[in-house]
Amino acid sequence: VPHGALAGRHVLITSGPTHEPIDPVRYIANRSSGKQGHAIAAAAAAAGARVTLVSGPVALPDPPGVETIHVESAREMLNAVETSLPADIAIFAAAVADWRVADATSNKMKKDGNALPPLALVENPDILATVAHRKSGRPPLVVGFAAETQNVIDYARAKLAKKGCDLIVANDVGGTGVMGGDANTVHLVTADGVETWPTLPKDEVASRLIAHIAGLVPAGRAG
Ligand code: C5P
Repeated sequence: VPHGALAGRHVLITSGPTHEPIDPVRYIANRSSGKQGHAIAAAAAAAGARVTLVSGPVALPDPPGVETIHVESAREMLNAVETSLPADIAIFAAAVADWRVADATSNKMKKDGNALPPLALVENPDILATVAHRKSGRPPLVVGFAAETQNVIDYARAKLAKKGCDLIVANDVGGTGVMGGDANTVHLVTADGVETWPTLPKDEVASRLIAHIAGLVPAGRAG
């Protein structure tokens, strides 16, 4: 990526999993490592952008030169995203939990004879869709990810429309060790068509994606 390709831009990125509490010591999580989202944040900073990274719990260091906000749950992630707007570009790479526990308890749940604890779930807010559908203050370019194990392109097209974003980066996470791994095979899906990239290291995917995005944003904005 040419240095300065995103100079003067504010890029907002989500990365990592979310943790949804069950009680003070237990949570629901997923296998996202944050590697792809953090690599995108580093690439955006290298391109000269001001970068805000909203990260779920990950084992990665904060990327240098990036303002990193640490959150745990989906609702905390949405709050941090909304307080970080406005942005010129928003990239939602986090693997946000679809559901949270309806009534997380404030004390540790105890084994109680034979009674199994019921775990009622409720839907989490969709951060990408919420931001992409904003009437005012919508970032001019909103990018989502779609991790799928089948019908990758079809599901990505459906997601593009439903979530209201401008670009979906679709990847196949079926069996190949993408989640937690260092390589990724992605398809860029827009209303105009599909561009498939070869399997690449995640930091190479990140720098190509930032170069691609820098070519899409209207010139002369600052956020
Ligand atoms: O989970 P799903 O396949 O719907 O995720 C697609 C995109 O939506 C990803 O970019 C993800 O970061 C985003 N998303 C979100 N908030 C959610 C669920 C997904 O921002 N609650």
